[in-house]
Amino acid sequence: MGNLERLYSDRAGKMRKSVIRELLKVAQDPEIISFAGGLPNPNSFPIDDLSTVIQSVMKNHGKNALQYGTTQGLTDLRKSLAERAYKEGFKDVAEDNVIITNGSQQALDMVGKLFLNPGDTALVGLPSYLGGINAFKSYESNLTGIPLDEDGLRVDVLEDTIKELLRENIIPKFIYVIPTFQNPAGVVMPEKRRKKLVDIAHEYDLVIVEDDPYGKLNYDMDHIRPIKAFDDDGRVIYMSTFSKILAPGFRLAWTIASEELTRKMIICKQALDLCTNTFTQYIANEFMRKGSLDLHILKINEMYKPKRDKMINAIEQYFPEGYTCNRPKGGMFAWVTLPEGIDTETMFLDAIKHKVAYVHGKAFHVDGGGERSMRLNFSYSSNDQIEEGIKRLSSVIEERLATINA
Ligand SMILES: Cc1ncc(COP(=O)(O)O)c(C=O)c1O
Repeated sequence: MGNLERLYSDRAGKMRKSVIRELLKVAQDPEIISFAGGLPNPNSFPIDDLSTVIQSVMKNHGKNALQYGTTQGLTDLRKSLAERAYKEGFKDVAEDNVIITNGSQQALDMVGKLFLNPGDTALVGLPSYLGGINAFKSYESNLTGIPLDEDGLRVDVLEDTIKELLRENIIPKFIYVIPTFQNPAGVVMPEKRRKKLVDIAHEYDLVIVEDDPYGKLNYDMDHIRPIKAFDDDGRVIYMSTFSKILAPGFRLAWTIASEELTRKMIICKQALDLCTNTFTQYIANEFMRKGSLDLHILKINEMYKPKRDKMINAIEQYFPEGYTCNRPKGGMFAWVTLPEGIDTETMFLDAIKHKVAYVHGKAFHVDGGGERSMRLNFSYSSNDQIEEGIKRLSSVIEERLATINA
């Protein structure tokens, strides 16, 4: 083949490989203890229960489950999800407000496609989920970062930033937020701040994209109402996924939004895949309808909470002084910031030599920050691997600190 470069679109030239996907490749060496991916623990997958459900789907719905479906998704599944959402505090939600997507990742891409022209601006957290950043960047947008504190996105800075952008005649198209057990920082936005965020979006007439894959992986908190529960005028696009509470291999997630936004997103989705996997939609619906999903979530939380404790306790025991780390109340990640002088991106190669992997903080920052931070996943590894991996990481950090202080 000749010179393909001259044929690619400008957009293709600007696309960036996902750092995480690249890291996951390196971390595939079986000797490496990987804290890098956001993977559920494979021992959590309810294989026997799902086998029974799959047989029942084949027997009772085989002809439809193997057929194309509508772009919006299986009506029964949308109904089940709308009912659950209503119980959790969503207002005015019915199956017409729900779209079943091929993972939340697809929903993020749909949002980019729907709102972003080249050069447009969207607002994201510092730090923020890398897959969201990449999806929005692929539409050639500019992403402006809003810092987080221990209560999530700083709404005071958000408001100042919006004002500043408007003064320059830049209308930020949406605010992307992961309010509950944030990826990567693990923090939770309290209700007061959620309400304030909705007020700000109302005042400046903006859309909020609420990404909530981890809300159900809750180890220490009472039920937390989503931002969408405070949305009176249909400006919040809510999304969640079966990836972390059932199986990411299903590639099954959902959005909840106003009918107008739902209609628009369905059009975006039509060209992407015609429809989401029909078979897994039937399976997930039956699994949920027979009450297995709620029991399964309880089991996952029983499995992950001790892993969270194991990791945080090991960090407290082994890491050299000068780091900061929260004890996340849910989710899958610990977020650690190391002493001045350490660059976690260059330290990654040392970590691989010591057979341990993480994701460096810069990957989650659209402003180039985060060089001293790292994200550590605690759901995937066994408890012994967590202890051993943290010991290995401590040696890597100690070696780095010794060269800095030499
Ligand atoms: C914040 C966030 N959003 C979206 C996704 C994508 O999830 P899905 O597997 O549903 O595409 C992830 C996956 O890790 C995530 O952490």
